Amino acid sequence: MTITQTQSRSLLGLKDLSQNEIQSILDRAAFWEQHANKTHNLLNGKFVANMFFENSTRTRTSFEVAEKRLGAEVINFSAAASSVEKGESIYDTVRTLESMGIDAGIIRLKPIGLLAEMAPKIKVPLINAGDGNNEHPTQALLDLYTMQKHFGTLKGLNVAIIGDILHSRVARSNLYALRQFGANVMFCAPDDMQAKDLDVQYVSMEKAIKADVVMMLRVQLERHSSGILKSADTYRESYGLTVARASQMANHAIIMHPAPVNRDVEIDSELVEAANSKIFPQMANGVPIRMAVIERALV
Ligand code: CP
Repeated sequence: MTITQTQSRSLLGLKDLSQNEIQSILDRAAFWEQHANKTHNLLNGKFVANMFFENSTRTRTSFEVAEKRLGAEVINFSAAASSVEKGESIYDTVRTLESMGIDAGIIRLKPIGLLAEMAPKIKVPLINAGDGNNEHPTQALLDLYTMQKHFGTLKGLNVAIIGDILHSRVARSNLYALRQFGANVMFCAPDDMQAKDLDVQYVSMEKAIKADVVMMLRVQLERHSSGILKSADTYRESYGLTVARASQMANHAIIMHPAPVNRDVEIDSELVEAANSKIFPQMANGVPIRMAVIERALV
């Protein structure tokens, strides 16, 4: 594979993906959703490495399920049990697995910018499973898939993304992709959790909860440099989706959250599995989306 072919098969982010490219992934995911409970032999003999340099439950596991559903050989690289602990760099680790003959790598890492810098030097497709607060493309793809499945179209949909925008790669990837489809994205966040670099309108909680999609974000304490979050109770009172606020949502509206969820901080526990919550369906949709993304990388 040439570097150009590798780059077009990689998925580093959604910022530069067209509506057509995104829609073709969503369409293929719809196919795989119909066939997700069977194992296929499409990737027989192909090795896919899951390289997670930051913790994950949903993304890592659903990539592994997707790879196995497609018949790939799966290598689960754990940074905590590797030579990273002896000081080996992320780049050298990826080059090491590449030199052993992996066909594609799924990668999650903390440093912002490292993936974009590293990708042109790697000869196998890389799929971004979350890099710092930059992008989380497969999360946004499964979010779009969930919304499109529910509403039929994304065009004109009012999507409110509420919470710790500043530290959220999910907010960025959703913004880039939703705008391609003509959705109206609005943000709602306390001043010290706003991303000033993004050209998006910030609205009040009262307005945000009137959107068609109310997408709550986790307060990402692990990325806070100082004590931005003064008190979980105060945050919930001002920016949490409480039962009282949820009762003011439109009848047709849905609740989303990429999870993991801080129950009773950004969302009341009773709402996580409410009838209008898509939180667990989002997780289920992660498997066919990741099947489509891996197929795009390797077939
Ligand atoms: N939504 C998400 O990325 O979850 P994990 O951190 O568990 O992968």
